[in-house]
Amino acid sequence: MTRILVTGAAGFVPSALAIRLAQLPATEVVAVDNLSTGDLRKLEPGRHPAIQFIKCDVNRFEDISSVFYAYRPDYVFHYAAVVGVKRTTDHPVDVLHDIEGIRNVLDLGKNTGVKRVFFSSSSEVYGEPVEFPQNEHTTPLNSKLPYAIVKNVGEAFLRSYQREYGLNYTVFRFFNTYGPKQSKDFVVSKFIRAALKGEDITIYGDGSQTRTFCYIDDNIEATVNAFRRNEVVNDVANIGNDRETTILELAALVVKLTGSSSRLHHLPPLKEGDMTRRMPDIARMRALLGRELLPLEKGLERILADTAYILD
Ligand SMILES: NC(=O)c1ccc[n+]([C@@H]2O[C@H](COP(=O)([O-])OP(=O)(O)OC[C@H]3O[C@@H](n4cnc5c(N)ncnc54)[C@H](O)[C@@H]3O)[C@@H](O)[C@H]2O)c1
Repeated sequence: MTRILVTGAAGFVPSALAIRLAQLPATEVVAVDNLSTGDLRKLEPGRHPAIQFIKCDVNRFEDISSVFYAYRPDYVFHYAAVVGVKRTTDHPVDVLHDIEGIRNVLDLGKNTGVKRVFFSSSSEVYGEPVEFPQNEHTTPLNSKLPYAIVKNVGEAFLRSYQREYGLNYTVFRFFNTYGPKQSKDFVVSKFIRAALKGEDITIYGDGSQTRTFCYIDDNIEATVNAFRRNEVVNDVANIGNDRETTILELAALVVKLTGSSSRLHHLPPLKEGDMTRRMPDIARMRALLGRELLPLEKGLERILADTAYILD
């Protein structure tokens, strides 16, 4: 039996991951979350007997250590974090506390014989872009805001624990991921929610800033393959989509697919945290996935077939 600890498991990406891991043969998932922004319904209670949920704050050593010593996980996916541009810029001190969680997971992982720690880093570590596409090894990191700095520090902790204690790791740098269970304050969910309710769609600045959008299934399949095939060991992989879309194009696509009468409403650009452009080099992700990524229009159609969370 393989036991896997997933932190932040009531969140968008980690809940999908926990559910997928629980479907692997002879695998048990210990799912922890402090429910600060998480929602237990994302773990589909009652439907996955191989998932056990424990309410726990990863940043509090006494909470998370009892989970490690009681369950002795073989692998850890450390995905818990304070997330979201607005939340992380409004509460930078909370964000910095996440460094404690990273240290706790690594100290406990090293002391209990964990085989590999997987860490959800972010495209934000590249900061305001210096080159495209953004490559895991050749593009310099340019982290300035606390959220990006914490992810960068996390990566440094993983490398250091590997060097000094031999604890294996994998860093995934996630670029925008979207899907039906994403929080309502992210751009895709926000636009769809507004369009379905016939409300104005709010755009910061002129909408010419581009984003790439990775459908949740592509993220999960690539990362689970890295785990199952023992790849990206002590290394980094960008996880995202490399097709660029402007925010205006996204809004237009959402309006088209929903047949909405919503109008676009422009606000002044955000003061910080809204990069003009991002675009990952995803050669590595493509190799992990072994198939084409899902186009944005198809992903939006899948969300529109399952709007329970967005409209909740
Ligand atoms: N979704 C994306 O596009 C994206 C992009 C880049 C990086 N990431 C990273 O992926 C991870 C998951 O992101 P998400 O979009 O699913 O966010 P999410 O907010 O839906 O999930 C994060 C979960 O972590 C929980 N949490 C926060 N602090 C905790 C703590 N101290 N102890 C226990 N649980 C805690 C929250 O309650 C929430 O359920 C995060 O680490 C995030 O930084 C996501």
